[in-house]
Amino acid sequence: MLSFSDYLDAVPKVELHLHIAGAIRPETLDELAVVNGLRLPKRAEELYRFTSFYDFLDALRLAALALATPQDFRRAAHECIEDLHRHGGVRHAEIFFNPHYHAPNGIAYPEMVDGLIEGLEAAERDFGVSSRLIACIDRSVCLPSEALQMLDWMAAHPRDRVVGIGLDGAERAGPPLLWAEAWRQAGRAGLRRTAHVCEDNQALFEAPPAHFSHCRDALGCDRLDHGYNILADPAVVARAVREGVHFTAASWSGLPGNRAPRRQRIRAMFEAGLDISLCTDDPAIFGTTMGHGWRTVFADLGWGVAEARRLSLAGLRASWLPEARKAVLEAGFVAMLDALEAELDPGDRAVDLAVTRR
Ligand code: ADE
Ligand code: ZN
Repeated sequence: MLSFSDYLDAVPKVELHLHIAGAIRPETLDELAVVNGLRLPKRAEELYRFTSFYDFLDALRLAALALATPQDFRRAAHECIEDLHRHGGVRHAEIFFNPHYHAPNGIAYPEMVDGLIEGLEAAERDFGVSSRLIACIDRSVCLPSEALQMLDWMAAHPRDRVVGIGLDGAERAGPPLLWAEAWRQAGRAGLRRTAHVCEDNQALFEAPPAHFSHCRDALGCDRLDHGYNILADPAVVARAVREGVHFTAASWSGLPGNRAPRRQRIRAMFEAGLDISLCTDDPAIFGTTMGHGWRTVFADLGWGVAEARRLSLAGLRASWLPEARKAVLEAGFVAMLDALEAELDPGDRAVDLAVTRR
C-alpha cells in the first residue's frame, strides 16, 4: 500500500518552469564560489534567505556567477535533474538559463550551452529524465537589443536541446511589449516562446492582466509562466481558458508571506478551468523540491487523485517535446497513474510536509 505522500511524490511529472541559477544546491554554490574565486557576502544557505522579491533576484544573479566553466554548468544541470528525479518523480524538464548572466563573466554562449547539454545528457542516461533548454532574458538587467544579441548567439550555435526563449526578472522593469521585436524574430527562427507574466509579487498596475494579451498577441507566446494576476480580469481568464493557454505555476514562493496566498491563486486558476502545471521555479534558492511543492499544495487545497491526474497530464501536454514523443510519454504516464492509484491506501490522506528528500 502506498501512502498519500509517497503517491504524490511518485506521480509522473514534467517540470516546465525552473531556472538553472535557482537550482544550484547550496553546498555546490559554496564550493564553486571558493574554487572560482567568487566572493559571496554570506554562505549560500544565508544568501538563499531574503525578504523581498528584488533581494531574491539579486541572490539569483549572484548565484549564477558561480558557474564559471563548462564543467560547472555540467554539474549544475546534472545535479538539478537528479534532484527533480529523486524528489518528485519528474520525467521530463524544460530548463531556463540566462546567457547574459554569464557572458560578462567571460563565458561564451557555446561554452555554457554545451556544458549544460553535457550535464543533461549524462542525467538522461543516469536517471531516465529527458530535458530541453530555454534561453532566457532577465528584463531587469537586459535591454531589448540584448535579446536580439541572444538570438544571434542561438542562431550561430544551434543546438537541438535549446528549443525556445523566455523572459524573467521583474515585470515592472520590462513590460511585454518592449520585447515584441525579439519575440517576433524568435518565432520566425522556429523557436518556442514563453514569458513570466502577471506574477503575484508585482502590483496589479505593474503586471496587469492586459500583459497576458500582449504576450499572446505581440510576443506570440504559446505558454506562460506564473499568470496569477490575470484572476483580476474575468474576461482575460475566459480568453485564456478558451485558447487553452498553459500556465506554469510555482507551487512554493520564495517569500514566506506569499505561500498560502499563492496556493489560493493556484486553486482559483485550476477551478476556473485554466490549464496549469505545478513547477518549482527556483528549487534550491526557495528550499523546495517538486515533491514538496506538490505535497504542500495538495495538503492545503484538499486535492486528491483526480487533481493529480489532471496536473500530471497537463504538464506533459504543454511541454515542447515533439508531438510523437509526447504521445508515447502520455501512454506511459497514464499507465503509471493507473498503477499508482491502484496501490494507494484509500484511507490515507495525511500529507508529510517535509522538504526532504524522500
Ligand atoms: N527568475 C527566477 N525566478 C523568477 C521569478 N519567479 N520571477 C521572475 N524572475 C525570475
Ligand atoms: Zn521563474
